[in-house]
Amino acid sequence: MEKFIIEGGHKLEGEIEISGSKNASLPIIAASIMCEGKTVLYNVPDLKDIQTMIKILNFMGVNTKFENNTLEIDPSGIYQFTAPYEFVSTMRGSICLLGPLLAKYKKARFSMPGGCVIGPRPIDLHIKGLKKLGVQIENEEGYIVGKADVLKGNDIFLGGSFGSSVLATANVMSAAVLAEGETTIEYAACEPEIVDLAKFLKKAGAKIYGEGSHLLKIEGVKKLKGVEYKIIPDRIEGGTYILAGYITKSKIKINNIIPQHLFALFDKIEECGLKIIYKSNFVETIPNDKWKATEITTLPFPGFPTDLQAQMMGFLSLAEGISIITEKVFPERFIHVGELNRLGADITLDGSKAIIKGVKSLKGAKVMASDLRASAALVLAALTAEGTTEISRIYHLDRGYEKFEKKLNLLGAKIKRIREE
Ligand code: EPZ
Repeated sequence: MEKFIIEGGHKLEGEIEISGSKNASLPIIAASIMCEGKTVLYNVPDLKDIQTMIKILNFMGVNTKFENNTLEIDPSGIYQFTAPYEFVSTMRGSICLLGPLLAKYKKARFSMPGGCVIGPRPIDLHIKGLKKLGVQIENEEGYIVGKADVLKGNDIFLGGSFGSSVLATANVMSAAVLAEGETTIEYAACEPEIVDLAKFLKKAGAKIYGEGSHLLKIEGVKKLKGVEYKIIPDRIEGGTYILAGYITKSKIKINNIIPQHLFALFDKIEECGLKIIYKSNFVETIPNDKWKATEITTLPFPGFPTDLQAQMMGFLSLAEGISIITEKVFPERFIHVGELNRLGADITLDGSKAIIKGVKSLKGAKVMASDLRASAALVLAALTAEGTTEISRIYHLDRGYEKFEKKLNLLGAKIKRIREE
């Protein structure tokens, strides 16, 4: 395994380029197996999660070619419809293959994703929506076994106890595209990644209306054709680097970003008394030596994204005053609290709330990565901590951040990736 050795206290300067969105790429790659003929996707980030998805497709017989962030997918050779545990357990996002498999091939045998460090990852909404479209689904020894003679459009309510579900919306919307008749999905997810998936499907011939709102209307079509499509930038990667700028009190420019995707973050940065500049496709951080505490509640889009919660907590650990973060999407998503406290933060938990008492500075220490975004929070904290920080198990980071240390070192950070003995 590998670890990062990070020398803290260096200001950053210059420009950083954001890669394509991991969470838009995954459902779009999944949906491409519904198309007749080859699909070519541009701006696909080269990440472990993308490689895992490609492995699953190849296991099923789908031909792929991935180089220079361009991914070609030819599903004509698909001959099996199983996603084995060893793949799914490393990447729960692969569940977004379920809808496309059932819609196009009418069968699927999919390992239950299981839980992870951010909490249980139920799929009851995925199953409810697919059943409403006429899919028969059984649970056999930890595998979801689905089959359908024909998928028929229906009116589906997809809200759960935590509101909308991103990948349940992806699965049900994708499946409804090839169902007979009209489907409505009430309480659909509004995330930009769902909008990007809808745009891809419409370019391939689907009839979808209302993407970006809670109410989707889909008119089933007979088939989809392979297309060329460019993936949107990764808003979470973008938000992570914006916070890297502020936590190191640096002025940096973040390119290839869609500012509208991050207004909830900008709002909180301004609430902390800081300024931010953004134009059509870039953001500039305007640093300050101090920032105020604030209160954050994570919510589905356009609310404050749960995927930036850990990074924001690292930033607020140095604010003046007491901040409160309420996690309403994944209430247990606080694995990073213990490790941030090892770096000198003063954070306590009360159920789904974290109370962050701002401290003057953080101090380098040995910490362990445990989840994709929690690991990013540790890197941000290490960039500003006095002395050296060692972060082990950084394979978590490689799942969702392309060339992470290379991009930050180009700005002046001092991060070394070394093999752990
Ligand atoms: C997607 O996961 C993202 N992953 C997650 O990003 C992100 O944190 C999450 O959306 C929320 O924005 C991908 O897109 C690959 P949900 P998803 O279904 O779709 C509950 C990252 O770091 N729920 O929107 O699995 C669920 O437990 C990852 O890139 C049900 O109750 O999340 C949670 O509390 C981590 N039943 C809430 O809904 C269901 O059937 C939102 O989860 C499904 C979900």
